[in-house]
Amino acid sequence: MDIKKGLQETFIKEIIYLKEVDSTNDYAQGLAKEGYPSGTVVISDKQIRGRGRQHNKWFSPEGNLYMSILIRPKDMSLAIPTIIPAFTYIGALSCVKGIYDVCSVRTTLKWPNDIVYMDKKLGGVLTETRISGKEIVFVIVGIGLNINTDIKEFPEEIKNRSVSLAHICGKEIDKSKVLFGLLLQFDGFYRLVKAEGLAPIIGEWIQNNSTLNRNVRVIEGEVIYEGFAQEIDEGGRLVVQGIDGRTIHINNGSLYFL
Ligand code: BTN
Repeated sequence: MDIKKGLQETFIKEIIYLKEVDSTNDYAQGLAKEGYPSGTVVISDKQIRGRGRQHNKWFSPEGNLYMSILIRPKDMSLAIPTIIPAFTYIGALSCVKGIYDVCSVRTTLKWPNDIVYMDKKLGGVLTETRISGKEIVFVIVGIGLNINTDIKEFPEEIKNRSVSLAHICGKEIDKSKVLFGLLLQFDGFYRLVKAEGLAPIIGEWIQNNSTLNRNVRVIEGEVIYEGFAQEIDEGGRLVVQGIDGRTIHINNGSLYFL
């Protein structure tokens, strides 16, 4: 499959394939500092120090998809605090839609950044930014998807809450097809956010989520919130109605179902 040809009409400029890297996000940041253009994508067969959110490690053996997209957002009217949720939602939605296009499997979104199948984690998004004053210098959207890992191979601490696409489909998956589907979807969502702002992205996220209308616990640093996950507000925050009736708008955190 000629991925580059298929992506000619998109904002994707260059795809850099690596056999092994510490972290594709770190590598992409290095490229960003060297001046590489928006639309540079880094992909690696495996990562030695793959990173997840909240300083977690990301299990990164061969067989799965590890990629980072460098974006230098232009012509976007998003407020700076919404950049991370916007690109995290775009990355996660692109996975859900790209996976459906390739395998007809319905995955869903767990706030803030997970792609799940029946509440088991299939992938995650790590968005990192460089902001200078009011300027967004660059955004790196890192995506990890468990494609071909045998579920017995997951480390003990994540084994009973992780899944792979091969396990769901009962066969080995061609990860280049998932990559292609995902990047096409990403391009579409990136165009959408530039043209219409965050609202339609939030609308799509809501349509594909499995977080809302459930009782949750969210841990954000030292603070723990418990309550009913009601909605995503216009800034991309999760709105939780606490047991005391108070409504809280949460920026970030680790979410558990109660
Ligand atoms: C999470 O769910 O905590 C986010 C996981 C993000 C993992 C991806 S794999 C490619 C990119 N490089 C990294 O080091 N992390 C992201």
